[in-house]
Amino acid sequence: MKVFKDSETGMQIINEIDKLKTVLMDYRKTGKRIGLVPTMGYFHEGHLSLIDAIRGKVDIVVVSLFVNPTQFGPAEDLDRYPRDFKRDERLARERGADIIFYPGVKEMYPEPFFTYVVTDQLSEVLCGKSRPVHFRGVTTIVAKLFNIVQPDVAVFGRKDAQQLIIIQRMVNDLNFPVEVIVAPIVREPDGLAMSSRNVYLSEDERKQAPIIYAALQKAFETVQNGETNAEKIKQLIRQKIESAELARIEYIELIAERDLQPVDRVEPGSFVAVAVLFGKTRLIDNLAFFN
Ligand code: PAF
Repeated sequence: MKVFKDSETGMQIINEIDKLKTVLMDYRKTGKRIGLVPTMGYFHEGHLSLIDAIRGKVDIVVVSLFVNPTQFGPAEDLDRYPRDFKRDERLARERGADIIFYPGVKEMYPEPFFTYVVTDQLSEVLCGKSRPVHFRGVTTIVAKLFNIVQPDVAVFGRKDAQQLIIIQRMVNDLNFPVEVIVAPIVREPDGLAMSSRNVYLSEDERKQAPIIYAALQKAFETVQNGETNAEKIKQLIRQKIESAELARIEYIELIAERDLQPVDRVEPGSFVAVAVLFGKTRLIDNLAFFN
């Protein structure tokens, strides 16, 4: 059984499900609350802010680090998805994680594997249109992590708004005894939402990518000034993003949080979600008009 104990802070790196369960059961017996930060690694400040967001709510922070193959379609970037475990380990330790759960693919998906969790409808819209298997993979791995870790609290970033809403739905629909908390989007100084995939951007693409947030901010100002019409707001965002020559819009939608369906007017609980391609790199972002 592989367990490495960090000499300075006691952070453990655990690769095996059974070992993790045993360690967590001991903590639970002594009344400790467990928090889960699910990640695919290659940490940036957005990931680390998830650790900050959960730290005060639990006694033990488990960061899972697993590049989940089932959420990548056949033509997607699974093989080239950025990875740097040594760096991730250092950053998680510095940020105060107690355990990194770092399983291999065979540990999480022993063959044969037949069972998936699917959230109907919600997983078919927005990003689900161009990534048909993506959310099935996400809900399946998150459900597995919930069953393995049995966290009291789990944290997800607002950046992946559709993922967040789908996971909240799954937790409600399947009665997972987990409190889901939400961490705000973390941005680069120029407004680009942090993402592990930003490293794929060429120099020119990286220069133009902040247009996405600039467009969302422009829409926000317009709404503050009284505009509520969805078409006008989407048109404004479209024009602004199209002013960047390398940007190719996949979608711009004003949608309701409750069902991810388009709304005609801005209303409480509605938000704008966008997906924009720069070359092969697909960037997503979103902005809510009400808190
Ligand atoms: O947001 C991510 O990094 C992943 O989709 C998640 C939630 C860790 C599941 O693999």
